[in-house]
Amino acid sequence: MENYRVLHHPILRDAPDRQTVTIYYEGRPIEAYMGEPIASALMASGIRVFRNTIGRHEPRGVFCAIGRCTDCMMIVNGQPNVRTCVTPVEDGMSLEFQHGSGQTTEAEVGASAEKDG
Ligand code: FES
Repeated sequence: MENYRVLHHPILRDAPDRQTVTIYYEGRPIEAYMGEPIASALMASGIRVFRNTIGRHEPRGVFCAIGRCTDCMMIVNGQPNVRTCVTPVEDGMSLEFQHGSGQTTEAEVGASAEKDG
């Protein structure tokens, strides 16, 4: 697995040791720091796209990183529309890519698609 974390910095020095936990993206284990935002853990593992839009299926990932834009929403522990940039990691967390609104039945997806255009 890729690791994009800055562990050694010429000015900030080495990153401090932190407690690690395991989260699961689409069933794949990923090492994360306890309490860091989910989005940070995913980005550190090279995962940049967290969902797609329902109408045009355009990719979305971190944009504002302060919980305002909804671009980073994913399905977390079965719950859709969770803003991963402001939701802390917990050990054993299950993360799924979110297609559109994250609703699962065809009727719900169809209703959302009509709203989205
Ligand atoms: S990146 Fe904007 S709400 Fe998370």
